[in-house]
Amino acid sequence: MTRILHISDLHLVSSEMRYVKDAVKELVMAAPDLTIATGDLCYGEEGEFMHVRHFLDSIPGKKLVVPGNTDKLGTFYRWFGERPSITDVKTSETTLETDEYDFIGTTTLSTGTYWLLEKKNGDGPATENTTLKKWREKISDPMKLFDAILGDVNTPVVLPDVLAVGFDTEKTPERVETAYIAKCGERKIYLAHMNDGALHDSDISTIEDAIRDAPGRLNIVAVHHPLALPLWSTYTGYFSEGEERLEELAGLGVHIVLAGHKHIPGGCIVPPRDGGSDPMYHLSGGTLFSPDIKDPYKENSYNIIDLEGKSVSISHVEIGTQPRRFGGFDLR
Ligand SMILES: [Fe+2]
Ligand SMILES: [Fe+2]
Repeated sequence: MTRILHISDLHLVSSEMRYVKDAVKELVMAAPDLTIATGDLCYGEEGEFMHVRHFLDSIPGKKLVVPGNTDKLGTFYRWFGERPSITDVKTSETTLETDEYDFIGTTTLSTGTYWLLEKKNGDGPATENTTLKKWREKISDPMKLFDAILGDVNTPVVLPDVLAVGFDTEKTPERVETAYIAKCGERKIYLAHMNDGALHDSDISTIEDAIRDAPGRLNIVAVHHPLALPLWSTYTGYFSEGEERLEELAGLGVHIVLAGHKHIPGGCIVPPRDGGSDPMYHLSGGTLFSPDIKDPYKENSYNIIDLEGKSVSISHVEIGTQPRRFGGFDLR
């Protein structure tokens, strides 16, 4: 049997260490062959990533880890020193070709969560000032720390019967249709409503190539932002072309999509297509350690996927309780 643990939204620094130790014991006892973590591991600081690394290393088996939105917050705070007070958000709208702008972070205002963008080499003194230039170099790569500390567990995993590929879905869009102009201190920046995740065409090609190179396996795609939400969810999310992407993934032969972000455990099934393909499960994870547990769940949780021959069984586990099976299917 091959066992896969799906853990998500660790938010490791917001949890009590004693509790983490108990949870680690449980995960070690589960003896996974592969553990997949679907983002929001920490808040993007170096020490936190090291902590995540240590935690992952304490669990046996292979790992596949993808970043979530909070894993990039560190870059944001380092840039501004603190969460910026954004003043003077004008109602005027503008369209941006985002390759002409630097992505400088995200922020949440009462009206929603926004990408912050600043025109490259323009609008203010940033590029003339060496200190700011240094900061710019740092933040121009928000994945720098993640890559340095977790890069080796961010690559596709191929087991004899499982293929798992992960993607960063916290991407700046290729084009922003509506951006709002704001001031942050002396600097002019642009706010664009964030969609809750995106896959790019190149990601779809990567999946297609990976399945072609390692055929005949249980195919898993790991992302942070869910492409679909459980029916009972009252939370909204706008994964860019989420439904179309789900259809594409099902058509490529993906069996399970693992996601996190909303802290709502659950799943939905994309039925077999064209009378031929296998069904596809979209599974969301609860949060493993964060106190932000959504009703009706009371405990932190994770998912277990067991593969026995062609038979796939999916269970949800609230920490400290027995796994509860809630789905499964047979591979063809
Ligand atoms: Fe989260
Ligand atoms: Fe998230």
